[in-house]
Amino acid sequence: MPITSPLPSLSVKQMFDRDSCTYTYLLIDPKTHEGVIIDAVKEQLERDLLCIEELGVELLYCIETHVHADHITSAGSIRQKTGAQIAYNQLAAIKSIDVELKDGDELTIGEHKIKAISTPGHTHGCMSFYVEGIVFTGDCLLIRGCGRTDFQQGDSEDLYHSITQKLFSLPDVTLVYPGHDYNGKTCSTIAEERQWNPRAGQGKSLADFMQIMQNLNLALPKKINEAVPPNTNCGINFRPDAYIHEEFSMQSLHTVWQQQEVQETLKPSSNTLIVDNRSEEEYSAGHVPSSQNIPFGTESLHLEALKDFDHVYLYCHSGRRAQTALTHLSILGLDNITCVSHSGFPQWLELGYPVER
Ligand SMILES: [Fe+2]
Repeated sequence: MPITSPLPSLSVKQMFDRDSCTYTYLLIDPKTHEGVIIDAVKEQLERDLLCIEELGVELLYCIETHVHADHITSAGSIRQKTGAQIAYNQLAAIKSIDVELKDGDELTIGEHKIKAISTPGHTHGCMSFYVEGIVFTGDCLLIRGCGRTDFQQGDSEDLYHSITQKLFSLPDVTLVYPGHDYNGKTCSTIAEERQWNPRAGQGKSLADFMQIMQNLNLALPKKINEAVPPNTNCGINFRPDAYIHEEFSMQSLHTVWQQQEVQETLKPSSNTLIVDNRSEEEYSAGHVPSSQNIPFGTESLHLEALKDFDHVYLYCHSGRRAQTALTHLSILGLDNITCVSHSGFPQWLELGYPVER
């Protein structure tokens, strides 16, 4: 008797980017061949387009789970090539998208409904996507882990609630497909994570979770400065030269300082500005000559003035505040920002560069 197998109701293809350890998913309705791609990676554009072509997929949507900090999305390029629409959480405030999603919204491919679940915490605009017993969790819930919360408007309390109240309330057998895995794991289930997730599982309290998250002490993603600004525009129409690379340092800032006629105040006529994102007290105790003090958290108040410069360079003490300020300003539409993200003013002092008080 011949073996026959019915068509699966939904085909899920899991693809991997080795450099960023990102999973991209291609979901296809086998009957209509309509599909969506979730979290596509710029470096894998050719692979993904070939797969779409070979499988005869009519791509309807490019879905992004959040603004990625570790790779540039290819959503904009895939849209150009396939005509698919880009779907994003409206809270992520991304430019030039086609479908703004809210919690509970659904996208349809063939007979299947993909439900958007707002799961903030890793970033404030994170979404997970549920379809027929499978949840794509982005960087909210990872296999035996979770996304970090120390930049991009990350919030550990929000993440705890997203994981324990939203995702853990899905049926036990729900398959969990994460946005990343760094150890070769590919898939989990809600029951497994509720039981074995070391950060949020085993009935961990919010206080336990907050303590774990506060003590992760992770290095910044190596591509954060290259990835976040273009990702705020679906990975397209950005000026790669406007963004710094990980090797941009206080030495580089010193070169900038030497080469440019840096103005002491925010003047539309000058083309370069160095900004110190530390507090007023830290700034008063000594700073890069001619730098302007814009304490971290107040940068959006200076948006209009900052727009007038060809280049704005940010620094702080360790790089973390400057990095977050860069992300914030990029989301608000600036593409002229560079920051020192892996060191700061202590290194300026160490190198014996001039100090202004
Ligand atoms: Fe992420």
